[in-house]
Amino acid sequence: TSSSRRRPAGVTPSSATCMAPEPPQPEELPEALRGVLFEYAEAARKHAVWVFELLSESLGLAGDYLVREMGCGQSLKVAGNYYPPCPEPHLTLGNSRHTDPTFLTVLLQDAVGGLQVLLDHGGGRRGWVDVPPVPGALIINVGDLLQLVSNGRFRSVEHRVLANKSADAARVSVAAFVDVGRSMRLYGPIQELTSPHGANPPIYRSVTIEDFIAHFYKKGSENRPRLDYFKLE
Ligand code: OGA
Ligand code: NI
Repeated sequence: TSSSRRRPAGVTPSSATCMAPEPPQPEELPEALRGVLFEYAEAARKHAVWVFELLSESLGLAGDYLVREMGCGQSLKVAGNYYPPCPEPHLTLGNSRHTDPTFLTVLLQDAVGGLQVLLDHGGGRRGWVDVPPVPGALIINVGDLLQLVSNGRFRSVEHRVLANKSADAARVSVAAFVDVGRSMRLYGPIQELTSPHGANPPIYRSVTIEDFIAHFYKKGSENRPRLDYFKLE
């Protein structure tokens, strides 16, 4: 686990452990995690693949499009977030507002709570809404790269975590960041979803995952929706 306060918001923590495509050797993991982390990571990855299939269909594409054509689900990084009790929770946040630089994130939170998403109520009204813990439930966040390849049809969710208000219990969450494998391939709006001269022009340019991540680490990039940087025009 790592304190999420030491990293800029929205950046996959470098302490995240890569579990796919190349899992670590068991002895590289803390002993307590050796059994469960391999099993959890593969279950989370399979679950994400299933969600990618449903999302492909809902875009009107072949069911295996995002998985087979794009390679979604080939990469999985797992991070443990640790939020100690905060004596003055109104003065700070556990994790400041951000979107995830992923295709999907599978998030497991414990019973402490504090996760919020920014909801668009229409008419320019937006507000933070609690995502209360539900025992046994996983939270699936759409990340920026899925927004990019879906040409804005799926929107990455802005979220944050309030400082831990509980008197004695630390909050722990496990985030599994699900992505395509690393390659020099360019990822842009899926052609089947766009019509260059028609009603659905591509709104983002194509990027390599490397360039995309490099932009995320750039100072100041958090000041506006990061995906705006990849908008065409
Ligand atoms: C993250 C994240 C939320 C949480 O790690 O990107 O948003 O509940 N975590 O810890
Ligand atoms: Ni996040």
